[in-house]
Amino acid sequence: MPAKLILEDKTIELPIFVGTEGEKAVDVTKLRAETGYVTLDSGYMDTGACTSAITFLDGEQGILKYRGYSIEEIAEKSNFIEASYLVIHGRLPKEDELKKFQAKIASYDDVPQGIKEMIKIFPKDAHPMGILSSNMSALSAYYPDLLVQDLSPEQKETVMAQLMGQLKVMAAYAYRHQQGKEYIKSDKNLDYCSDFIYMMTGNKNVDKEVAKALDILLVLHVDHEQNCSTSTVRMVGSSKANMFATISAGIDALWGPLHGGANQAVLEMLEEIKDSGKGYKDFLAEVKDKNSGSRLMGFGHRVYKNFDPRAKIIKVACDSVLAKLGVQDPLLDIAKGLEEVALKDEYFVSRKLYPNVDFYSGIIYRALGIPTNMFTVMFAMGRLPGWMAQWKEMVEQPGFKICRPRQIYVGETTNKYKDIKSR
Ligand code: SDX
Repeated sequence: MPAKLILEDKTIELPIFVGTEGEKAVDVTKLRAETGYVTLDSGYMDTGACTSAITFLDGEQGILKYRGYSIEEIAEKSNFIEASYLVIHGRLPKEDELKKFQAKIASYDDVPQGIKEMIKIFPKDAHPMGILSSNMSALSAYYPDLLVQDLSPEQKETVMAQLMGQLKVMAAYAYRHQQGKEYIKSDKNLDYCSDFIYMMTGNKNVDKEVAKALDILLVLHVDHEQNCSTSTVRMVGSSKANMFATISAGIDALWGPLHGGANQAVLEMLEEIKDSGKGYKDFLAEVKDKNSGSRLMGFGHRVYKNFDPRAKIIKVACDSVLAKLGVQDPLLDIAKGLEEVALKDEYFVSRKLYPNVDFYSGIIYRALGIPTNMFTVMFAMGRLPGWMAQWKEMVEQPGFKICRPRQIYVGETTNKYKDIKSR
């Protein structure tokens, strides 16, 4: 049954599009051609930018699925490399396919010498997200065969495995540079997470619990439909920019504190509450005062108006990882206290503000010995397969177009040029 739109003296019918999970959209593709009108939706609050078969979110129910598999099942039974294959290829890999994918990623265990030197040029206190996005873009200088407009299926496979390997390497090198230490060469015999921890610490005997906890965190970050950084990847990729530039843009969008940078902002918020001695009740009073400019970082979400299912999983993992590591972190107690009070407070309840993926993740990263300014880097490592899966889905969509939204102009209309002497 189409939607009827009455505009001035005209009534038009607009088709209704229904997704496989029952989501409904009014298809406005022909709106402007038939009426001269466009839609206006700042921040894309209620605008579907594309159809996608990768990830499904139900914000009201707090449901997240990768290719139809619940996040709870994937987090419990799968692992980061397998979940990456799932979102990219649309199905779980057979044993030999997974081994091949894993080996291909591990084969990209280093970056060109020029990149190693470029990382070292950055000031030691440079934010690693800036180091990562700059060097991701700079990688394009070393792989001209991947700069073609339309990559072949083999080239897509290569570039996706290559970036999963090299992003990990660059992240570890950025960390070592900041610590004033020499780079540590990847060890192909270690799994992805253990190798990353080894490249950061030099400790080859990585605690299995630590590696597993990191793997679960990466799994939980793999994809999240059309979030800000994924939409950025689609936007940049739609101009047929190369994959290095496209992913570099995704890293930059993720950096913002309203998005992936929130995990770092949560830890800084918890530390501020602890160091200032102000109780979390006082802090929440500040958050509710609009003039304070304070936000309860790690709370609220554009889509989830219920618990973020990832936050639930991470909160449970927090307790078990810290217990297994014998870590007592007062910040975890403050976080739990904040959550308990906020979830009973009318301000948060009325606005449907719940903990999101960033609220507890930083506490685990901290317990794993990862410094605060590397938290968003961990988010980028987790999200990389999702970004590439969404890019692949877009470029392979028949008749895909460059993303170019319209606008409504509200500026001055008939200005006449004045000579500078008479202005
Ligand atoms: C991620 O999109 C994704 O899927 C993202 C992500 C992913 O996996 O890719 O899930 C990852 O980015 C999670 C979100 C991390 N960001 C934060 O934790 C930062 C803190 N939260 C926010 O700033 C905010 O909640 C957003 C940015 C997440 C969502 O913002 P919206 O949807 O634009 O909502 P809004 O800012 O318009 O807020 C609506 C109301 C406002 O109050 P009123 O003007 O109605 O009185 O809620 C208030 C806001 O002031 N509000 C908050 C709040 N978040 C919203 N008030 C205090 N603390 C907060 N955290």
